[in-house]
Parts: sequence; structure tokens; C-alpha cells
Amino acid sequence: MVREFDVVVVGAGAAGLMCAMVAGGRGHRVLLLEHAAEPGKKILISGGGRCNFTNLQCAPGRFFSENPHFCKSALARYGSQDFIALVEKHGIAYHEKTLGQLFCDGSAKQIVQMLLDECAAAGVAFGFSHVISGITKPDRFHIATNHGDISARAVVLASGGLSIPKLGATGLAYQVAKRFALPVIETRPGLVPLTFSDDDLALMRPLAGVAVDVMVRSGTSVFRENMLFTHRGLSGPAILQVSSVWAGAHEIDVDLLPGTDASAFLLDRKKARPRVEAKTALAEVLPKRLAAVLTDRHLPPGPMGETSGHDLTRLGEILNHWRLLPTGSEGFAKAEVTVGGVDTTALASKTMEANAVPGLYVIGEAVDVTGWLGGYNFQWAWASGWVAGTALAV
Ligand code: FDA
Repeated sequence: MVREFDVVVVGAGAAGLMCAMVAGGRGHRVLLLEHAAEPGKKILISGGGRCNFTNLQCAPGRFFSENPHFCKSALARYGSQDFIALVEKHGIAYHEKTLGQLFCDGSAKQIVQMLLDECAAAGVAFGFSHVISGITKPDRFHIATNHGDISARAVVLASGGLSIPKLGATGLAYQVAKRFALPVIETRPGLVPLTFSDDDLALMRPLAGVAVDVMVRSGTSVFRENMLFTHRGLSGPAILQVSSVWAGAHEIDVDLLPGTDASAFLLDRKKARPRVEAKTALAEVLPKRLAAVLTDRHLPPGPMGETSGHDLTRLGEILNHWRLLPTGSEGFAKAEVTVGGVDTTALASKTMEANAVPGLYVIGEAVDVTGWLGGYNFQWAWASGWVAGTALAV
């Protein structure tokens, strides 16, 4: 027997739950299909279990896409204040951590429960552990699953990107998009730690655990946040941010002393404290271990009074412009997001509907829209889910 619905939403993650609750609330018979046994796995682990659910500074300039204008409409119609209102309606306590990032005081479970409660109130049906083997559109959409076939007038692809396969990520949205001749922008891992050559790692490994406030540049993009040394290379917010724009085969430029002319600082300390070693002087402004490793690598041993101004100036230039060539990233296994995805030229920005396939919608991370670190990716999931749920014309 073929089950019939108005709308089938594929993927019970952030975007799919939002879209289902909105479409259900508008009176549509909605089925939310999910191949995992439970919804919202990424929400549950996000923000260290507290879910950084939105950002007060949300603006289109904080998103990457081949078409940076595409996200504007959805973000303008469903902004961070709208999601905050929903969170407050459910009595969920939250706080601003830093840079406009809002987290639950309690647990990310509250966000998932809130969305499930809204879906239940909107009469949304759930189909967990449903493996989809095909989506076709002879007339209505026909969805073949391991629990039987389903027919729907509209299908919303909300199955996310490729990041963290062990949490259930698959390329289903891209496969279905291609099947319906929608172009897909090449995907790559984003918000991911970067890896380095053995030579660089020899310096980085002993510093594992050291965090430092930096300014990182890749091309025209600049991020100022913490950078973390790890056994495998570099991580921390600044590196995760730059990884989303780093296109490979290009150096990144790390300023270890943003706002300080490092050469002038070292020359000044040489004059003021000639008997002191450069590593001791630098430890005033850098983590001690980092100061020691860099001076050991770039300066001859001895007090600064015996170190040439040329050598100190050269070290200063390295400190302000440490040019590093990543060999790659830790890949989709460690990436928080997928850069690229269903090409926005194939979608209507006001509805998320495919221009050439009436009734087919794509939302959330599956679309070629990627946010900065800090709650922006969830805001895109909520906003794109909301506009699709609102627009569904069935
Ligand atoms: P999402 O991945 O959430 O949901 C897709 C759903 O589709 C999943 O339930 C999946 O199981 C299902 N699915 C996949 N393939 C399927 C198939 N073939 N059939 C049926 N179902 C299928 N962002 C942010 O703003 N703040 C934060 O704090 C964090 N923190 C964070 C931590 C970690 C570790 C990660 C990996 C990611 C984040 N993110 C984040 C990013 C954020 O989680 C991400 O951008 C959103 O979850 C994307 O929402 P979607 O609904 O588009 O996909």
C-alpha cells in the first residue's frame, strides 16, 4: 500500500524539523523521514552539548556561497530574533557566550525537544529508520523506502551535507538533486582543523594544547579568534573559520601578535632589557611554550643584547606574518559543515523551491550556503526551513 502525504521532508535535523513544524502548522499532512533511529543528532552534540543555536550578529556577510546574495531573503524573513522568540516561548534559558553566540544554559536536548513538541502540535508524522532507495516524480513524488512506498505532492530535501558520516551524514540530497538535473557545487569540508607537513608538525606537536589569540588570513578573508596547536596540526575557532575559505595549495597568514608590531616590540625590549633572552621577553605577550619554540627555531641562543637587530626584526616579521602552507584538512570526519552543495542558481531564494522542478525544495546544509562558526549554520537551517515550510504550495 502506498501511503499518501502532502509533504515529505527528508532528514529530521535542524532544517527538516523546522520545515516540518511550519508546514504542519499550515495544515499540510507532513511526513518527516529520517534514516537514523532518532532526530537531531547534530543538534544534540553541537556547542559542546549546549547548542550554539543562533548568533545575535547574524548577517548575510557571515555566509559563504557561490552566490552570496542568495541567503539574504530567508535570513531577513526568519532572523535570529524569531528563533529566540521560539526558544523563549518554550521557557528555555540561554546566554550569550561571546561574539553574539547564544547557547542553552541547560542542554541541547531542550532544542530538539522544543522542535519535536512543535512538530507534534502541528500533527507531523515521523518515519524513523527509513532507508530511502529512490525518489522519482512521475506525477506526484514517489519515495521508495524499506518501510514501503510513499507518495507526496512536495518533497523537501533536508538531509544535510557530508560532514561527520558517523552521525548519519549521507550525500542523498546531492544525489537526488542531480537525478532531477539540479547542479551541485563541488563539496569540501568546512570548519575543520588543518593539517601540515612533517616539518611544520615537528614545531606544532610539542605545542599541542597551547591556544593563542591570532588574526588569520586566507585570500581576502580575515578572522580574529583563538588558534589551538594540536598533535595533528592547527585547530581552534580561527583555523576552523579560515578552513571554510581555504581553497588548497595556498598559504595562510597567521599574525600571532595582532595589533602589535612584533619587530618594534623585540627591538624595544632589546634596548630596555639587553640581558634577557628573546623567549623571556616574548613570553610577556605570547604563551611561554610558543615563545620558546619560535625563538629556539629562529634565533641564535643568548641574551637579546647579543642578538642582531636584523635577526630580531626577521623574527618579528614571522610573528606578524607566519606563512604556513596546509597540506589539507582533517576531512569530513572532523568537519562541522560542508562547503558547497546544491547550486543556489537552481533554487528560488524566497521559497527554496527548485526552479525547474515544482514541488521539490532543498534546505539547510544541503544548499551551497555555509555560515561562519558561531551559530550561523543553525540560523541558516532554521531560516531556510522556515521559508520552505511557509511557501509550500500544496
Ligand atoms: P543535519 O545534518 O542537521 O540533518 C540532516 C538529517 O538528515 C540528519 O538527521 C541525518 O541523519 C538525515 N539524513 C542524512 N542522510 C539521510 C538519508 N539518506 N535518508 C534519511 N535521512 C538522512 N552549527 C551551529 O550553528 N552551532 C553549533 O553549535 C554547531 N555545532 C556543531 C558541532 C558539530 C560537531 C557539528 C558536526 C556541526 C555543528 N554545527 C553547528 C553545524 C550544524 O550542526 C549544521 O549546520 C546543521 O545541523 C545543518 O542542519 P541540516 O538540518 O541541514 O542538516
